Amino acid sequence: MGCNERLWTSHYMGKMDGKKGYPEMFVVRLLTGSFPVAGIEDRDYKGKKLLDLSCGYGRNLGLFRDLGFDIYATEVSEDIVRELSRRYPDIEFRVGWAHKLPFEDGFFDGVVACNSCYYLPDRLTFGDNIREIHRVIRKGGWFVGSILASDHSIFKGAVLQSDGSFVITQDLQGLRNNCRLQGASSKEEVKTLLSPLFYRFRIGYFCDDFEGFRRSFFYFCCYRSG
Ligand SMILES: C[S@@+](CC[C@H](N)C(=O)[O-])C[C@H]1O[C@@H](n2cnc3c(N)ncnc32)[C@H](O)[C@@H]1O
Repeated sequence: MGCNERLWTSHYMGKMDGKKGYPEMFVVRLLTGSFPVAGIEDRDYKGKKLLDLSCGYGRNLGLFRDLGFDIYATEVSEDIVRELSRRYPDIEFRVGWAHKLPFEDGFFDGVVACNSCYYLPDRLTFGDNIREIHRVIRKGGWFVGSILASDHSIFKGAVLQSDGSFVITQDLQGLRNNCRLQGASSKEEVKTLLSPLFYRFRIGYFCDDFEGFRRSFFYFCCYRSG
């Protein structure tokens, strides 16, 4: 199976019930933390329009709700969206991809892409995803997200493509084989990948090596240029 909506639908369907929504730590840090510096500086979130781009099981939705956002979220198939709508009736879910978001220009005050904007469908580049995310953020709005680091275990045996992305061959979860992902090897590279559409970067690096499986990624917040 390639990296498409069928893969993710079978990954999520029938498995959401009973899943607790514990948020990803970098999202908490960038939206609410202030030491050593704040991520997002304007913390007046009440009523602001937020997109949770590919929300998965919805583990960050409780946090966004607590912070007072007007929440919208996407996932990649009708089946997943139907299931999410049943679980979270107060949130608006739509089918969307990072390169194709069903919202008008400048609709959001902020977009969070938690471990999702680096998946690349056939023939598309990371730049296609980033341009689309930029399009749906209003002038002065912000973008919070993550990019896998090149020392993540998922890149073991991966095949480098001419655009700098990698095709995964040895995912221990058995999920992402044949998926093409964007990675980065430094904070500077993260900046380069997101510039010039975004600026005012704050970038972190996370690495957790547990029993030989290394989960590592860069996480960032930045503001829309232009
Ligand atoms: C690792 S999961 C992260 C889900 C969720 N954000 C979380 O943190 O739990 C990756 C997500 O990316 C979605 N995805 C796969 N390809 C995508 C693409 N090209 N554009 C946007 N999302 C994609 C999948 O449906 C999946 O929900």
